[in-house]
Amino acid sequence: MKIAVLPGDGIGKEVTAQAVKVLLAALPGKPQLTEAPIGRAGVDAAGVPLPPATLALARRSDAILFGAVGGPGDESGPRDKRPGLGLLQLRREMALFANFRPAFLFPELLAASSLKPELVEGLDLVILRELNGDIYYGEPRGIAVNAAGVREGVNTMRYTEPEIERIAHVAFRTARERRRKVCSVDKANVLETMQLWRETVARIGRQYPDVALTHLFVDAASMQLLRAPKQFDVMVMGNMFGDILSDAAAMLTGSIGMLPSGSIGENRFGLYEPVHGSAPDIAGKDLANPLAAILSAAMMLRMSFGDRDAAERIERAVRKALAQGLRTADMMQPGKRQVGCAAMGDAVAAALA
Ligand code: IPM
Ligand code: MG
Repeated sequence: MKIAVLPGDGIGKEVTAQAVKVLLAALPGKPQLTEAPIGRAGVDAAGVPLPPATLALARRSDAILFGAVGGPGDESGPRDKRPGLGLLQLRREMALFANFRPAFLFPELLAASSLKPELVEGLDLVILRELNGDIYYGEPRGIAVNAAGVREGVNTMRYTEPEIERIAHVAFRTARERRRKVCSVDKANVLETMQLWRETVARIGRQYPDVALTHLFVDAASMQLLRAPKQFDVMVMGNMFGDILSDAAAMLTGSIGMLPSGSIGENRFGLYEPVHGSAPDIAGKDLANPLAAILSAAMMLRMSFGDRDAAERIERAVRKALAQGLRTADMMQPGKRQVGCAAMGDAVAAALA
């Protein structure tokens, strides 16, 4: 098991350390871990957010365990030095186009959800986010003075038919292993790119007559996600809408610190990362919630290494730590015991036994 460990910035370092701790406790001696910088750490170490040595390490690994990138000031300055670009380049270089963001509510966190318990009890949906296209990568892009002499920002939403087809197939295949429902999210009423999205998903859907396909515009989908989330099984969408709706889905599960993710391409190589960001405001204070990172490591064992047993042991250990009443600050509830990031990692590792 050759694993590239890319902690990145901010709380990425803290939560990744806990994921590594749990991984080693679950499978002693098996993972061969090599660490490398990315994001702001990459800029500091090698002048770019994705240093060539980090990419080379990723290429000779079986999977990547990723933390988070970014920090204050990311929204300004030259694009080629922005921490987030490191992650975007890695996703594209490794052709990781299918990003699974499962929103699953542990019963212990029912009261911590931002929705009423009866709306989220038993919640179990997957946001499947296309990760290699859309306005994230579309050209032309940039900020320039236009013909009228004023500065203008330009980004381009683009999807080719084959790109939509391959993510649609992943959605339908995933639904077949679950409750056989796919909801495709788009903005086909306004955007041509999304019109092509809807037509293509519908066409591929005809190859999967046993899966029920519905379509929602993204505004309606965000409303339904907050009104009645249990209606959803697999929700498939483009890169941009997936970024937004997955953070919203995270809140249903008790904390943004609870949503893991796994990104794969045509084979088993994958990148596993918590959905939350680098949270510079709490970085270095031992306040972060490591559970999304730990659950991402479990996803890695399942999706890239086919070790379902070890993945389930980690998931049960997380549940045990929650059942013991341990909570990081973000999910703190009355009557529970607040612990730091490292103590939560220790508790999960101990619960594996
Ligand atoms: C995510 C993050 C990234 C994204 C950033 C860090 C580039 O928000 O993985 O959701 O926008 O994809
Ligand atoms: Mg995001």
